[in-house]
Amino acid sequence: MTTRKSASAKSPKQAPVASTSAATPVTAGHAKSQEWFARAKTLIPGGVNSPVRACKSVQGEPIYIAEAAGSHITDVDGNRYIDFCMSWGPLILGHADPHVIKAVQEAAPRGLSYGACHPAEVAIAQALVDGFPGFEMARLVSSGTEAVMTALRLARGATGRSLIVKFEGGYHGHSDGLLVKAGSGLITGAKPGAEASSAGIPKELAALTISVPLGDLRAVEKLFAFHGSKIAAVIIEPMPANNGLLLQTPEFLKGLRKITAANGTLLIFDEVISGFRLRYGGYGGLVDVQPDLVTLGKIIGGGMPIGAIVGTRKLIELLAPVGPVYQAGTLSGNPVSVAAGLETLKRLQDPKTYAYLDSLGAHLEQRLAAAGPAWLRVRRLGSIAWPYFDLGAFPVNADTISAKAIERFNALYAAVLAQGVYLPPSAYEVWFLSLAHTKADVDALADALIAAAAQVD
Ligand SMILES: Cc1ncc(COP(=O)(O)O)c(C=O)c1O
Repeated sequence: MTTRKSASAKSPKQAPVASTSAATPVTAGHAKSQEWFARAKTLIPGGVNSPVRACKSVQGEPIYIAEAAGSHITDVDGNRYIDFCMSWGPLILGHADPHVIKAVQEAAPRGLSYGACHPAEVAIAQALVDGFPGFEMARLVSSGTEAVMTALRLARGATGRSLIVKFEGGYHGHSDGLLVKAGSGLITGAKPGAEASSAGIPKELAALTISVPLGDLRAVEKLFAFHGSKIAAVIIEPMPANNGLLLQTPEFLKGLRKITAANGTLLIFDEVISGFRLRYGGYGGLVDVQPDLVTLGKIIGGGMPIGAIVGTRKLIELLAPVGPVYQAGTLSGNPVSVAAGLETLKRLQDPKTYAYLDSLGAHLEQRLAAAGPAWLRVRRLGSIAWPYFDLGAFPVNADTISAKAIERFNALYAAVLAQGVYLPPSAYEVWFLSLAHTKADVDALADALIAAAAQVD
């Protein structure tokens, strides 16, 4: 076992960071993280730059990261954890993958941003399009949120219609029109009763988004019977992974394809999480459903900021400067992000990568099934696993997630962390496996869960 020093992050009082043994999990306490968090709260709202990081639902406080490599992160107190959050999905090769780092190191001295054209952005457009048979073009942006915003504007521009349909429990970034839970009144043709899930969203804007339950094709049919000619797009995470892993049947996705095609509505698959996660390409290819547009992010930037919209030439060329739908970005096609993304995509072209990731996921399932209480289980697909700590059928929509499952996850969280395993700090979030994880890492996760579960009802 090696001993190595943590990164140079100092506590707010500039205390040195302790050395830590690779084998040693959490022993050093969290004093420095607590100091950083206290200071952060005076400067950043809630101390965080994205709300779920505040760890409120697990009634904890964030740990402050000093460094990360492979499957591990180290905090400023010198505690080392196996990471199953993996920056919420981009790091399919693991933290600081040496090939990605090399690509970044080679790209950075050639310029951090040009705001002008460069060859690598053409190469990544090709690499993206290669993953989506039937699609011909891509536009790069800087985040998943931006990709989705652009896809919706494109859909409205293409159809001349205003309404957007999304699904309850689907997350598509934080743009105004998508932070909405519309009243089901719309489905039956009653007056729009849209309700934004954030302050600051005008009700007129919220009224343009209709939210329906996942898996409910009848509701979608009814909605189209009343409003079909006004709906520009249906947007869905084909593998819904933001409110638990609410896997849908292929028939549901095929049904959406049929209804949208019959009504001249675009079908958008938001594959910001699922894109290149289960195969080289999208989830649509797995279930044989061809959407009109796909939004991407996370993995395609290998840990650097990026997003993309891919689709047919006919649709994507509606974007400026060819078409009338305006979209732009100072950092779009950023050369360093593109270098990290290209290197990541290159590795994923080897199908063995996905077989390995799947074997890790299967090992986790087997370990949990072999020990611990029957409720200790995960809903898993490939390298994504969602802790669903209850018995019975796995839920397919937000309403059927049991309160007990959430309660158990929250009760377990601190004990698992104390054993050196870092999980996303919310019961609704999926865990990500990477090529840097080993069977031993998965064993450590299973051991930590089984030990913690013994203290929970
Ligand atoms: C499916 C989906 N779409 C869009 C987004 C927004 O992406 P970003 O956080 O890069 O803006 C996310 C983020 O988690 C996502 O999971």
